[in-house]
Amino acid sequence: MSVINNLKYIFFCLLTLNHAYAASPNQASMLANTCAACHGTNGSSQGPATPSIAGISHDYFIDAMTAFKEDDRPATVMNRIAKGYTEDQIKLMASFFSNQKMNPTSQNFNSAMVKAGKDLHDTHCEKCHAKGGTVSEDDSGILSGQKTPYLRYTITDILNEDRQVSRKMFKRLRNIHQQTGQKGIEQLLHYYASQK
Ligand code: HEC
Ligand code: HEC
Repeated sequence: MSVINNLKYIFFCLLTLNHAYAASPNQASMLANTCAACHGTNGSSQGPATPSIAGISHDYFIDAMTAFKEDDRPATVMNRIAKGYTEDQIKLMASFFSNQKMNPTSQNFNSAMVKAGKDLHDTHCEKCHAKGGTVSEDDSGILSGQKTPYLRYTITDILNEDRQVSRKMFKRLRNIHQQTGQKGIEQLLHYYASQK
């Protein structure tokens, strides 16, 4: 076989492989398995710095993966990982994870902090992070039950404007931070840690 024919053959195999890939019903969960080492089984995280991705909205998932892929969102590992997936594969995984239910592990919290955090949340965050931040309606991600260290560094990235988010949200967070310093942020974190 000539080199060209060889290449044609390889190309043909890749095409059919790709096709078989897209057609397989188990493809989404197979792709998702490679995320389990860090994000837990079906996207419910056990590790402190890794967010759960179960139940986050389809569009939030795609936006996050695209931002990592294009280095538009700060990341320790996800920018490298996201670059390994095509748009179609990302869509498949978005469907898979958005249909999973998040299963949070219990975290420590202080009741007085939780109460203050709930008040802050209800006043400033509930409008977009509905039901105490337990749902990803309006493509806003899930806050309740997320690992506290992850949420803390994410909020720091947002306040430092290293991670771009909706302007309205940025202002809300910045106001709390200006008025209360880290205290208000910590109260919010206790509230989200207390929620299941
Ligand atoms: C080596 C550990 C690791 C693996 C493997 C991994 N992730 Fe991540 N993921 C993280 C960490 C840590 C973050 C937080 C951002 C960062 O620091 O990179 C994250 C963040 C995310 C987020 C953003 C969640 C949010 O709430 O904004 C999504 C979406 C995501 N990962 C999807 C995936 C998918 C899909 C896979 C499998 C293809 C995967 N991850 C594999 C560690 C990992
Ligand atoms: C105007 C709507 C709105 C308000 C109000 C709002 N958010 Fe958000 N939030 C969003 C959206 C939308 C996202 C998804 C990121 C993006 O594209 O902006 C988000 C994402 C987040 C994230 C990142 C989630 C993740 O998994 O990485 C955190 C943390 C967060 N919000 C915290 C808060 C807190 C705390 C408040 C209240 C002080 C708040 N938000 C108020 C709309 C809002």
